Parts: sequence; C-alpha cells; structure tokens
Amino acid sequence: PVAERVDDLLSRLSLEEKAGQLSQYFYFGSVGELPADFDLSTVPPEHQAFIRQPQMVEAAIANGTAGSALFVTNAATANRLQRLAVEQTRHGIPLIFGFDVIHGLRTIFPVPIAQAASWNPAVIERSQVVAAREARAIGIHWSFAPMIDIARDPRWGRIIEGAGEDPYLGSAVAAAQVRGFQGDLGAESVLATPKHFAGYGAARGGRDYDDAEISDSELRNVYLPPFQAAVAAGAATVMSAYMDLNGVPASGSPWLLNQVLRDELGFDGFVVSDANAVKSLETQHFAASATDAAARALTSGLDMEMCMFDPAFGTLPDAVAQGLVDEAVLDTAVRRVLEAKFRLGLFENPYVDEEAVAAVLDAPSHRDLAQSAAEQTAVLLKNDAALPLDAAALGSIAVIGQLADSKRDTLGPWVFVHDTDETVSLVEGIRARVGDSVRVEHAAGAGIPSRVFPSMFDRQDPTVVNTPADYDDDAEIERAVAVAAEADVAVVVVGERQNQIGENASRSTLELAGRQLEQLQRIAATGTPIVLVVMSGRPLDLRWADANVPAILQAWYPGTRGGDAVASVLFGDTSPAGRLPFTWPRHVGQVPMVYSHLRTFEPQNQGKRYWDEESTPLYPFGHGLSYATFAYDALRLDRDEIAVGETATVSVDVTNTSDREADEVVQLYIHQRYGTSSRPVRELKGFERVTLAAGETRTVTFDLGPAELRHWSAATGDWVQDATTLDVWVGGSSTADLATVLTVAAASDHR
Ligand code: IFM
Repeated sequence: PVAERVDDLLSRLSLEEKAGQLSQYFYFGSVGELPADFDLSTVPPEHQAFIRQPQMVEAAIANGTAGSALFVTNAATANRLQRLAVEQTRHGIPLIFGFDVIHGLRTIFPVPIAQAASWNPAVIERSQVVAAREARAIGIHWSFAPMIDIARDPRWGRIIEGAGEDPYLGSAVAAAQVRGFQGDLGAESVLATPKHFAGYGAARGGRDYDDAEISDSELRNVYLPPFQAAVAAGAATVMSAYMDLNGVPASGSPWLLNQVLRDELGFDGFVVSDANAVKSLETQHFAASATDAAARALTSGLDMEMCMFDPAFGTLPDAVAQGLVDEAVLDTAVRRVLEAKFRLGLFENPYVDEEAVAAVLDAPSHRDLAQSAAEQTAVLLKNDAALPLDAAALGSIAVIGQLADSKRDTLGPWVFVHDTDETVSLVEGIRARVGDSVRVEHAAGAGIPSRVFPSMFDRQDPTVVNTPADYDDDAEIERAVAVAAEADVAVVVVGERQNQIGENASRSTLELAGRQLEQLQRIAATGTPIVLVVMSGRPLDLRWADANVPAILQAWYPGTRGGDAVASVLFGDTSPAGRLPFTWPRHVGQVPMVYSHLRTFEPQNQGKRYWDEESTPLYPFGHGLSYATFAYDALRLDRDEIAVGETATVSVDVTNTSDREADEVVQLYIHQRYGTSSRPVRELKGFERVTLAAGETRTVTFDLGPAELRHWSAATGDWVQDATTLDVWVGGSSTADLATVLTVAAASDHR
C-alpha cells in the first residue's frame, strides 16, 4: 500500500512541488531566537540574510517548496513548522526533520571515535537507541549519522566523528549505529544517514573538503566496506560527500551514486547532499549554473539537496522544461523521499507530544548509559604502575589544565541540545569520587590558544569556551606548577578544545597547542608523580610524555557524565579496556600511518623509512592496557586447510590472570602470504570484547570465511578469494604474536 499511496500522491504534484519535496533547508529560528524589537539595520548587510533566513524557510514550507528542514532544536518549533506544511499546503505532505544527532541529543555520549575505541558494538548500538529516542521526542525523524568515513590522517578534524582507520572495525561500528538509530522504524526510531559517500576521509593533506585521490582497490577494500555494512543493516538514507573523488565531485558522480552505491552496494533509500554541496558543484568548476548543478546532481542519483538559502533544486522545473533532466528521474527521487515519510508514519502522526519531551530528555537511565559507555572508551596508553590511584593513600591531588574543569569541552563537538550545566567535568568527577578526605585543587594553567576562525556552531552556543586573548599564561603556569608541587599526585589534563577538532577543524601539526608541554615538563621537574589525561579526538604528539610520564590515559571527550567515568577509571573502579581505533604516530611527519600497510620493497635498512624518525608508531592500532593481566593460549583451527569458499573456525583460550574482574578486547588478524594482489602485513578480521572474572578462562572463537578472506584486486578488476597461505594472529592488539597458519586450497583441488 505504501507504493500505491506514493504513486497516488506523486501523480497530483506539480513540478514545483516535486522539487520542493527534494529541498531541505537549514532552519536557524530555534537556535538563535531574536528579540521581537530587533533592529535588522544594525547588522552588516552580508549577515542580514542569515537573520531573515528562518522567515524565508517558513514561507517556503507554507508554499509547498520545502520537503524537509534541519536544525530544529525543540518540539514546539517542530510542531509549528509542521503545521505550516500539513495545514497550509495543497497536499499537506509532512516535513521530515533532520538533525546532526551524532553522539547523543540531550544525553551526550562520548564522541564517535571514543565509542569506536570501546570496540563494543552492542554498547554503541544502545547509545544510538537512546539518542534516537531523545531526538524523536523533540520531533526529529532523521539523524545525519553515523559518519563512517575511514580516516587515516589525524590532521583531518573529522577523524573524531568516525571509527578510525580500519574497515573491519569501521564496518562493525557503522552497522551497530544504523541498527541503534533505526531499530524497527517505530515511534522511537530515526532514519540513519551513513556519510559522507565516499572517500571524504582521504582529503588531501588532511585538509577538510580538499579533494581525494583513491585507487579502485583502496576504495573497495578500505573506504567502502563500512558503507556496505551500513547498507546491509538497512540504512534508509546516505549523505553524499563534498569533495572531488578522483577528479569528479562526489555529489555529481553517477558512477559513485548510481553505480557503486545503488547497483553494487544495493542501497535502496534516498541520498541527501551535504550542506550546500549541490550549489558547490559550480564552485568546484564542474557545473555551469545552478540549473546545471541541480540537473547533474539529480541525474547522478542525489535525491535531496541540503541548503541554507534558495536551493539549486528549485530550478528543477526549468531543468525538466529545458530537457536537462527527465521528469521520470525527478519522480524516482520524489518517490524515494515520500516512501521514507510514509515508512516513518509521518502522514498519520506528523506532530510530536510537547508534554512528553521532558520525561524522555531527563531520563536517568540515559545518563547512566552515557557513563558506562564512557567508562568503556578510555584507553590506557601507558602505565608504569602509577594507576589506578588509591584514594585512601592520598592526602591531596592537583588537577591541572583548562580542559579539566571545562564542562563544554568535556562534551566534545557536534552537540546542540545538551545541558552544559549538568555535565560532569573531570575535576568534578574526581572530587565526587574521592570525597572530602582528599584535598583536590584545580589550576587551569597553560592556555590553549583558540583556533583562528570561529565556527558557525560556536556562535550559536554561548557555553563554548575559548581562551581569552589577555589570558596570563605566565602567571597561570606558575600557579599550576606550584599547586602540582604541593600535591601527592598531579592529574595533568592536556589536549584540544572541542572546537579545535571536527568539521572544518584540521591542523597542520599534532603538537600540544600553546605551552601545555612546557607546563607538563615543569610539573615533572617538581617530582610530584604525574598521571597524564588526554582530552582529544585525534592522536597528539606525546613523545616526551611517553618517555617521561608514568601513566597516560586517553579520555577523549567523554560526554555528559565524562568526569565520573574518567574518575572511575583513574581510581580503579573500572579497569580500562578501550583500544586505539587508529595508529598513534610519533610525529605528524609520519602520517598517514596505518598498521595494515603493504610490505613493499625492502632495501638494506631493516624497513626503516625515515632516517630521522622511527618507522614504528608511538602506540599501535588496537593498543590499550588494563589493570588486569591476560594470558592467551591454545590458539587452534578446526582444520588446517579449507578450500576457497569454505569457513574455518579459529579458537583461543583467554585467561584473566589477575585478581580482579576486567574486560579484554580479543583481536584476530590475518596476513595473506601470496595471491592475486599484495595484501597488507596484517588485517583485523575479528574481535570480541569479553568480561572475565579474576582467574576466569574463556574460549573465544572467530570464523574465517569468504567475507573475511576476499579482497578487491586491481589485477582482475574484481573481488577474488585466493588459494594461499594465511598467517593468523590472536591477541590484545595489532602486535599480537600468538600465531597459527591456515592453508586455503583452490576450490577444485580440495579433497
Ligand atoms: O551533517 C553535516 C555534515 O556532516 C557536514 N556538513 C553539515 C551537515 C549538516 O549539519
């Protein structure tokens, strides 16, 4: 019946109304409401359009030329706009409201890269179930997440939004998020939007929006698998990327959007552009005009345009009249959008219950999940017996760093409906954990210089923190060193502010900004033992710290209950079990650097590729320490040989050899010794996070079959599974050394 209802409605729409269904507007009216007596003439002319923008969008909705809006932040506004669409337009087609619900709505979970570091898809899925429930409560139907771009260059700010460098981990995390958001597409679900299709993470030089050059082999073996997994999990929409992929804008590429996404990956939902990406086809020297851009984007398979002002898709009626686009192509796109609206039940239930919002957004169970999710994400990078801290043995703790008491930074980027006040900062979490018997003194210390250009989102969030220009670094550092010198232990928090990472927040260096390193060195010179806590969404240059500080904990941006979660790990209530979802380089000059590199030619230098720097990372992919110890034993295969197409089972016994319960992330890697193409030295092909009681042994098993053993080969231009010999390793990181060998025989040779 949905198809019939869609066809019936479609047959009654004018060309303008069809184009309207494909036009999605930002709506800034609920983010920065202006006083009624606001005098527009006081604003510079170039900014006036932004201020008038909400009225313009409301007019478009009321005349049936808008099918969707994004950035509506509350239920009252959602209902008010929805009424315009349902009650004032000819056909009463409801709007579909989208929003960047990236890592929570009111309850803020750890940033996505941190969630990936949990290596726990079940918890990630539950977090997105909660995010969807809260979003739906305020009238949002559709989340512009998950971002599943593989990121191999940490200079790129959006590394924080994805699952890191690895296609296997990235695929598991992508599918979990789609399941969490969409569930059964019921009243508490939102549509998911795997983004940005495709290759956005490979932006040249790590510069956001710059073009990407990706070989077919790398595209299919590395960048597309998370999209394949998201599509297989039922993703209803996909967002196209901004940049040029191999010289063709991703948002105007029929090969990418029609052939690869739909024909090869089997996607059957609708594609939305990234913001203003259709108009950008002109900027990118690709389209001749807005009409040309609209016609070519639509024909490429891009169904809905996201924009701030007049959409290029508004010209689609002209494009049809000029013969630039076939009306049947327009109908196909409209059909996809209407189907989604019907599937979500919007025609039956266009409005949201404003009375029910508070109970959902304030649910204590949501905050509790945010805390346990954050506890799962912390990665213990180094520990020379300095952690866990013993509160009973401490008289005083110095907590140093601007980030340590910044609630807003604790939340990370991409939050809009959060409550900064209820956020637990690191210093608050530590104070709450140790109680009154331990003196906890905070000193902000070294300033963290603000980025040079403010983000649009900073302007809308009055709680955003930047270091003031007149910040007295000398005096603050002196005080921090003095406070640390007096304490039994110094918890020194370093990193980046939340607006120094994310969209349009790439860096040319990975150094600790400002004088954070100098301050750390001076504190170390006082002799007070240091625990270094890093708040960042990318690897930073920690060479000095690794060589000189006894314990380093990567805390990411842990969210609403972040301070409690980090304190729980610091004091040993939780044993850390997060693992790095990326290779942590020593120095920015090493990037891009991945564990799953090809071997390539080896001259007489033992694999050393830089004469002035190691070729190894500071911390490998999959690395993370624990307060417990684990032993791996009895790695075995159910058979030593399989034929191409068959599946082997790998088992290993993992024992918690300590006297405390803890989680361990069991990881399986393979290497194909020879075949149709050269294959990486190691590839992750299985993992499981397990909780083991003290002394407990658990047998963990993995399957190795065609899905894990095939690769896309440039030699054949297709997927192949080779008859070959495979090395198989299982352990707690990508440097695992417990190994076995699996032979894969040609299908016909096999007995
Ligand atoms: O969803 C985002 C996208 O990831 C980057 N550009 C803006 C969009 C809407 O906020």
